[in-house]
Amino acid sequence: MAEHGVPYPSVFMVDTHAAYPPLPPKLRPHDRRRSVAQTMLFLLVALAFFGLAIEACFIYHLYSTKGNAESGSAALSIQDEEDITDILPTERPNPVVLPSKPVAHLTAAPQAGREDGVIEWNMEDQPLLHGIIYNKGKLVIQKEGYYYIYSKVFFSEADVPFMHSVCKTTPRYSEIHPLSLLQSRRYHPKSGRNIVTSNSYLGGVFHFFENDSIFVKVVNISQIRISLATENVFGIYMI
Ligand SMILES: *[C@@H]1O[C@H](CO)[C@@H](O)[C@H](O)[C@H]1NC(C)=O
Ligand SMILES: *[C@@H]1O[C@H](CO)[C@@H](O)[C@H](O)[C@H]1NC(C)=O
Repeated sequence: MAEHGVPYPSVFMVDTHAAYPPLPPKLRPHDRRRSVAQTMLFLLVALAFFGLAIEACFIYHLYSTKGNAESGSAALSIQDEEDITDILPTERPNPVVLPSKPVAHLTAAPQAGREDGVIEWNMEDQPLLHGIIYNKGKLVIQKEGYYYIYSKVFFSEADVPFMHSVCKTTPRYSEIHPLSLLQSRRYHPKSGRNIVTSNSYLGGVFHFFENDSIFVKVVNISQIRISLATENVFGIYMI
């Protein structure tokens, strides 16, 4: 029995059981699961790559349209500039950028003198004047608020007192008696015949109502030296 059945069939049976028949039933479900998992993994990876590709397409599209828009606007602005330069000789506003608040800066007129000592300012060369009206030496405030005023004059010191002041008139009070806002006074006692020149600078912040007028006054207008217009100035700006 042992000689009959054990050596030959047992070896065959062991081989078949161990090698061939047991393997397929054991491995097939495992293989199937693995292949399903692999397929899923492959699909997921493919999906991820597909997503990346779509994202890349969108980014490329975004950058290319942005670039086009930028180059388009650049081309447009160049064209605008060309248009402006075409118009410039005839229609350029001067200055191009207007001040955001009222402002004025004046220089002395060649004939600055007036009997009452009020200095008149040069309107010939289109001074900086925005949101404020100029009327016979006076700046008329159009918008209530706080303003910084300044004035500088160049004068000769003679044997007479020199006085430089910034004054205000307002419709709220008598216009005959101006209010002095800033003042500098100089008296050079008799010191020979030499005529000395000097500068006077005044500046300060004040509140003004609409229609208040401000102006610069000196005691003796003939003492003001107007060799250079820029040496005698009067300005104001809203703060
Ligand atoms: C300022 O003066 C103008 C012109 O004289 C006048 O129309 C306006 O009512 C005045 N404004 C004030 C607040 O007095
Ligand atoms: C004004 O100044 C001039 C010289 O600067 C002088 O000759 C004249 O006397 C002065 N007038 C008065 C009223 O002080």
